[in-house]
Amino acid sequence: MKETKRKRILTGDRPTGPLHLGHFVGSLQSRVKLQNSCEQFIMLADTQALTDNADNPGKIRKAILQVAIDYLSIGIDPKRTTILIQSSIPELAELNLYFLNLVTLARLQRNPTIKNEMKQKGYGANVPVGFLTYPISQAADITIFKADLVPVGDDQMPILEQVNEIVRKFNRTYGKGHKILKECNGFFSKTSRLPGIDGKGKASKSLNNAIYLSDSKKEVTRKVMNMYTDPKHIRIQDPGRIKGNIVFAYLDAFDNNLEGLEKLKKLYKKGGLGDVEVKKRLIKILELLLEPIRAKRKELEKNPEKIMGILEQGTKKARKVAQETMEEVRKAMQINYF
Ligand code: TRP
Repeated sequence: MKETKRKRILTGDRPTGPLHLGHFVGSLQSRVKLQNSCEQFIMLADTQALTDNADNPGKIRKAILQVAIDYLSIGIDPKRTTILIQSSIPELAELNLYFLNLVTLARLQRNPTIKNEMKQKGYGANVPVGFLTYPISQAADITIFKADLVPVGDDQMPILEQVNEIVRKFNRTYGKGHKILKECNGFFSKTSRLPGIDGKGKASKSLNNAIYLSDSKKEVTRKVMNMYTDPKHIRIQDPGRIKGNIVFAYLDAFDNNLEGLEKLKKLYKKGGLGDVEVKKRLIKILELLLEPIRAKRKELEKNPEKIMGILEQGTKKARKVAQETMEEVRKAMQINYF
């Protein structure tokens, strides 16, 4: 396919710690596939990570390398995907500033993603302004690259809606009939929400209930063995519940042997299948996925300078694209003075 015809992808993650299986099924897996047919940019969104970690820059700095290694170890290929660091593209901050004028406080406060996260963090009225406005800065992330597709977890859907609203408002206000900026589409995988191992909501770093791509075999085994199942399934011969049973939720996400899995579920429901046996099956399946990732990680960790080099090159390439868009934006806004 010709370069000009390929769809462009922009997506990203907040580098606040290593990535987990929830990220993997939610969007990482799609990114590995999409890099073959699309022009893909992946952003290490450190500026966004700082919106609720302003007092902890060391954590973000450390996570940049961790997350970059996560990407490369699962098969994101720097020859096909451009990986960039958000804070090193100052044009993003500039576009964010202009977008801030196009959004009302009321609209931000209605954004379900923000509402949820604010509640989770217990912010109330003491929310950092930078955090409240991160959907606007995310609009800059996406539109500066004129992205067509944004592969993210489905919790980000309301953010993408708001991004497209900003694009329409920008084009209406400054475009004189031209579509200077582009609306985007989300790309959601079929299992877009993996539950946490404790059964209390989705797998997340902050709830400390996730299996990390970088976990050792021992750690994976421990976590699976502690997974929430059916508290009423006490003896092997008791009938068990599949719904709400985290081990089966993970098998649904990772077991490709659908027929085998159906049989297993039937037996479990009827009674006669113990939790330990199902858990062992899950461990085996997860290890098949994670072992090669671990091996690749071990190689990558030997040479952090090389990884920083990949990020530097990617950021340079991405910045050129951002600068071109900003030329158009400034012209449309009549602020291209010199
Ligand atoms: N908000 C996203 C998350 O928490 C991370 C992110 C930042 C992002 N900028 C982006 C995702 C641009 C997609 C596109 O997962």
